[in-house]
Amino acid sequence: MTKSKLYVIYYSTWGHARKLAEAIKEEAAKNDEVDVSIWQVAETLDSEILNKMHAAPKADHPIITPHEMVNADAFIFGIPTRYGNMPAQFKVLWDATGQLWAKGQLHGKLGATFVSTSSQHGGQETTALTFLTTLAHHGIIYVPLGYFNVPHLTDMTEIVGGSAYGAGTLSGGDGSRKVSAKELEIARHQGQEFAKTVAQYYRKRKD
Ligand SMILES: Cc1cc2nc3c(=O)[nH]c(=O)nc-3n(C[C@H](O)[C@H](O)[C@H](O)COP(=O)(O)O)c2cc1C
Repeated sequence: MTKSKLYVIYYSTWGHARKLAEAIKEEAAKNDEVDVSIWQVAETLDSEILNKMHAAPKADHPIITPHEMVNADAFIFGIPTRYGNMPAQFKVLWDATGQLWAKGQLHGKLGATFVSTSSQHGGQETTALTFLTTLAHHGIIYVPLGYFNVPHLTDMTEIVGGSAYGAGTLSGGDGSRKVSAKELEIARHQGQEFAKTVAQYYRKRKD
């Protein structure tokens, strides 16, 4: 059996999106029809600026390139918000995909998203929604999380990141808030469900 390739692709300055990415990868990798790997988006800021921002050290995950994206069957993108939409680092990646777009090389692959914001109303939903235009132009088929079997999304007892679009976390204004247990559970659930969808989709396409 040829496994479908699922790429978890994230950018993270302070580690919140990375934490969700690692949880999603771990859970998705339990699906034996899917080969899951984790990638980070290249940094565009120099080390002096990153130091001033008190950015976290980068993880040891490989840097994604447009060329490498062609090898995937599905993507789940981890997006820390910038003013309600994707950070420039992600935009630089997408802006280098013109050749892939022209040849339809990402067309028909599956895509999902998860996000990080500093505040509750800082873009949990808009960050996913504004990302969709790029996915649509590439013909990437968007797979939302939905609400079914995700009770934490309607929890009113504490602040919980995430939405119908995908998992999410909140960092707090100074970055000190940690990814909560419920947010991690949502992320794991999304990893499991998205891997299942990817496996089912490619199994049917091969029939
Ligand atoms: C330039 C800039 C713009 C930002 N805009 C927003 C925003 O509109 N809403 C929000 O909640 N957080 C905003 N943030 C905070 C980041 O989204 C937050 O720190 C990030 O999601 C934390 O994830 P990370 O630890 O993976 O980097 C912004 C951060 C920067 C540097």
